[in-house]
Amino acid sequence: MTWGLQNRVSRLMKDGRTVMLAVDHGYFQGPTTGLENPRRTVTPLLPYADSLMLTRGVLRTSVDPSQPLPIVLRVSGGTSVLKELSDEVVTTSMEEAIRLNASAVAVSIFVGSEHEKETLANLSETVNAGERYGMPVLAVTAVGREMARDARYLGLACRIAAELGASIVKTYYCEGFRKVVEGCPVPVIIAGGKKVPERDALQLAASAVKDGAVGVDMGRNVFQSSNPVGMIRAVRAVVHEGKGPDAAMQIFEKAPTPKLVR
Ligand code: 5RP
Repeated sequence: MTWGLQNRVSRLMKDGRTVMLAVDHGYFQGPTTGLENPRRTVTPLLPYADSLMLTRGVLRTSVDPSQPLPIVLRVSGGTSVLKELSDEVVTTSMEEAIRLNASAVAVSIFVGSEHEKETLANLSETVNAGERYGMPVLAVTAVGREMARDARYLGLACRIAAELGASIVKTYYCEGFRKVVEGCPVPVIIAGGKKVPERDALQLAASAVKDGAVGVDMGRNVFQSSNPVGMIRAVRAVVHEGKGPDAAMQIFEKAPTPKLVR
């Protein structure tokens, strides 16, 4: 690993753990609930995240360039919810990622999907480009629609991502998650998935960390919460302080209720 790449990875995980805030959903979902106005959603959460995962469009339009948070730039896309999701291309060049001062770039792979090979090629090409500049690549794993999100398939996707050179892998929590982590020789983080009750999301994060994840890349369970700032503070307590879901839930419940910003 080059010094630059190592330095960028360490920006994302100062104590070896990370709370990445995912707000890239619009790249295929359009104006996702809670993210209709990205600036309004993201600004109050910035002090509590370790990094921000998003596309260049939302970064340029909705995030103040003077804010210090490391950026994880999504560079794959080109599909929408109306079409086959695995049919992605690389949308953003490595030079653009550097111009935007990204600390990592993110590419999705769809293992077992129609365009599995092309998405694995997207990842490999991005890793090759990243190696030239010391830019780490976060592989975002998805498995085919008909495949269970279980340890076997998620483990397969995570391992393939690591073998192709990803520096960090994002996946979903599942039963037997420890096996997924053990089979993946680079750090693993989990997505939150669809919005669930806050305590369930905190339990998910706590279980993932207990089973070896270095943190979360969480979106909807933060920004669709009734109190997004309270929720990200609770998630931080799980990831960085090892709090259990009950203790973290207290942090959520005691957090001041959000003011309505127009
Ligand atoms: C979609 C993504 C999202 O960033 C990811 O799913 C995390 O968000 P959430 O916690 O809402 O699932 O990469 O491909």
